[in-house]
Amino acid sequence: MKILVIYDSVFGNTEKIAQAIGTAVSTKKDAVVKRVAEVNSEDLQGLDLLLVGSPTRGFRPTEAIAAFLKNLSVGAVQNVKAAVFDTRIPIDSIKPAIFRSIVKKGGYAAPVMAKELEKKGATVITEPEGFFVKGSEGPLLEGELERAAAWAEAFLKK
Ligand SMILES: Cc1cc2nc3c(=O)[nH]c(=O)nc-3n(C[C@H](O)[C@H](O)[C@H](O)COP(=O)(O)O)c2cc1C
Repeated sequence: MKILVIYDSVFGNTEKIAQAIGTAVSTKKDAVVKRVAEVNSEDLQGLDLLLVGSPTRGFRPTEAIAAFLKNLSVGAVQNVKAAVFDTRIPIDSIKPAIFRSIVKKGGYAAPVMAKELEKKGATVITEPEGFFVKGSEGPLLEGELERAAAWAEAFLKK
C-alpha cells in the first residue's frame, strides 16, 4: 500500500502535524511525507492513499498547495482515496467578535483542498480536518500531534 503525505508549512506547525501523521501511518503501512515543493509525478504513481495538508492562510491553502492541486492532471489521482487537513487558529481565540464572524464565514484551507482533489477525480474519504495553533505563528495546541496521529490511524481501518 502506497501512502503519500504532502504538506506545506511556513512556520513549521503543519510540518509537525504531517510528520506525526506519517509516523502514525508508518507503524502499519509505508508512508512517505514530502513538502509540496519536492513532490514529483513519480510520487503520485500507484497511490492508494493521498493526504494533503496546509496552513490556513487567508481562509485558503498556501499558494504552493493551491498551485499543486490546480496543476494536477485530470486523472493523476483518479479514484485515489484522499484526505485533507489544515492548521488554523481556534475560532474562540479570535477577538473582537467581528473578526470571528469574518473568519467563520471565510472558512479554512482543508475544505478548499478537498474540493480541488474531488475535481481531479480523487475520492475524499473523510471530512476535512483542522488542527489548532495558539497564535498566528503557532505553536500547536497541546495534544494536537496525538490527535493528528489518531485521525490518521482511523484511515487505515477504512
Ligand atoms: C498571513 C496569514 C494569514 C492567516 N490566515 C488565517 C486564516 O484565515 N484562518 C486561520 O484560522 N488562521 C490563519 N492564519 C494562521 C495560520 O493558520 C498559521 O500561521 C498556521 O496554522 C501555521 O502553520 P505553519 O506553521 O505550518 O505555517 C494566518 C496566518 C498568517 C501569517
